[in-house]
Amino acid sequence: MQSQIKVNGQAHRVDADPDTPLLWVLRDIVGLTGTKFGCGIAMCGACTVHLDGAAKRSCVTPLEAVGQASVTTIESLDRSPIGRALQKAWLDLEVVQCGYCQSGQLMQAASLLAANGTPTDADIDMVMSGNICRCGTYGRIRAAIKQAASEISAARKVA
Ligand code: FES
Ligand code: FES
Repeated sequence: MQSQIKVNGQAHRVDADPDTPLLWVLRDIVGLTGTKFGCGIAMCGACTVHLDGAAKRSCVTPLEAVGQASVTTIESLDRSPIGRALQKAWLDLEVVQCGYCQSGQLMQAASLLAANGTPTDADIDMVMSGNICRCGTYGRIRAAIKQAASEISAARKVA
């Protein structure tokens, strides 16, 4: 069935069953492979994208549930000041090990900082708890989110 979705600001016509998970639409039809498959049952967070700015597990989001929502994937993270601050902090603190979980971690972190510009450790742990990292980068992820938050806040004071 033909439908249209908006991904990273661009409209895409897709031919897929309405119950096809958004993850496979993004990867196999739209060609954006930065969003990863981990568990397929909303238990790991590897497939996290944004729907109208809110973090969603794309492995359990059927195409028909996307409707007119704006889908944002890791490929356009650097279009927002929050995304750029997170990318910088991730690099500064050398967060990544194997990298497999990291696009999901970054998308979850971006939605956290959009909702809460000064997250505490407890806030971060609560929001990030569904994003599993088999390499155990949790401590560096938490530090990187805090660094990004303080850099965004400092930049706002200067502007
Ligand atoms: S692949 Fe979607 S939560 Fe694990
Ligand atoms: S960096 Fe390897 S799973 Fe998270």
